[in-house]
Amino acid sequence: MTLLRKACCAFAINARRYSSNVQNKKPPKILITGGLGQLGVECAKHLRGKYGRENVILSDIIKPTNEVFNDGPYIFADILDFKGLQKIVVDHRVDWLIHFSALLSAIGEQNVPLAVRVNIEGMHNVIELAKQYGLRIFVPSTIGAFGPDSPRNPTPNITIQRPRTIYGVSKVHAELLGEYYYHKFGLDFRCLRFPGVISSDPPGGGTTDYAIAIFHDVLRKGHYECYLKPDTRLPMMHVKDALRALSEFLEAPSNTLNRRVYNVTSMSFTPEELTDKMIKHIPDFTITYKPDSRQDIADSWPQVFDDSEARRDWNWKPTVNLDDLVSLMIKEVKEKIVANGF
Ligand SMILES: NC(=O)c1ccc[n+]([C@@H]2O[C@H](COP(=O)([O-])OP(=O)(O)OC[C@H]3O[C@@H](n4cnc5c(N)ncnc54)[C@H](O)[C@@H]3O)[C@@H](O)[C@H]2O)c1
Repeated sequence: MTLLRKACCAFAINARRYSSNVQNKKPPKILITGGLGQLGVECAKHLRGKYGRENVILSDIIKPTNEVFNDGPYIFADILDFKGLQKIVVDHRVDWLIHFSALLSAIGEQNVPLAVRVNIEGMHNVIELAKQYGLRIFVPSTIGAFGPDSPRNPTPNITIQRPRTIYGVSKVHAELLGEYYYHKFGLDFRCLRFPGVISSDPPGGGTTDYAIAIFHDVLRKGHYECYLKPDTRLPMMHVKDALRALSEFLEAPSNTLNRRVYNVTSMSFTPEELTDKMIKHIPDFTITYKPDSRQDIADSWPQVFDDSEARRDWNWKPTVNLDDLVSLMIKEVKEKIVANGF
């Protein structure tokens, strides 16, 4: 290849990479893995609104509903199949990868070998893929990446991380691997540590899921049995804020990011505090408490998350507080109940 042709190729590759600084930019082509979970479908809707329907490809190993299938591009992608992932990136000319596939905290403890494969081997595949094809890659981490030795109130961005769940261990592994690829190879790795994300969609088996299940059970049956003690404080965020954080962070110019991994949060509350707010809208429901193994996980996690570095570096600011969250969830879960006919 002549020098001129090499230079042209390099220019073509760079020109295809999206930069939020460039005016009249071409939207990025985005692939979401593990896209049929709690966050993926809403994330695709949010990003399609921003970058166009055809530019956001949702993928998973699950058969999609008609609604998901009709909403925009959907394909099969197993994150354990490296060649299959290569083919998708090449065929669809993917620029950004949002890696959601994972087994969450409570589910991971029930099947550790599978969690190791999906969460750790899967991460090896997507990070190599991102390096090979020069992709911007977003991997969510979690409050579960901290453990009993970490300060819990507040938990800063940089501190001791010794999680006691396979989920947490796999997320610390993802954070460190991503930072390593950034420093070693210049990979554009970006990671947010989310708190419990609250939405009306069914949760994937995490420890913060009670704050979703309580709305479904109370509105359907008038009663909820909580698997955490009433005073268990955990950081939380409505999905609207989580997706806005994700897309603002993905668009932040690289030179504003002092880190590749940031804490983000909106609020912290206990089951008792959530119930007190809900009673104002639904006065006659009941709640009982029967803590199970998820209590031990929650007791090792942050109570209040310090996201001051995200606020400073890329202007992160939550907009949904606990009162808003309760109003939104009651409205959205009621709509789901009407739509599903029960
Ligand atoms: N939901 C939260 O509260 C929360 C909080 C912090 C971080 N996160 C992170 O955000 C991401 C998405 O979370 P979620 O709640 O949507 O999870 P979820 O459990 O609801 O969805 C995960 C998806 O991964 C898919 N998956 C499993 N094995 C796969 C494989 N081999 N190939 C491809 N896909 C596979 C599943 O089919 C599922 O649809 C996860 O990485 C999670 O750790 C979520």
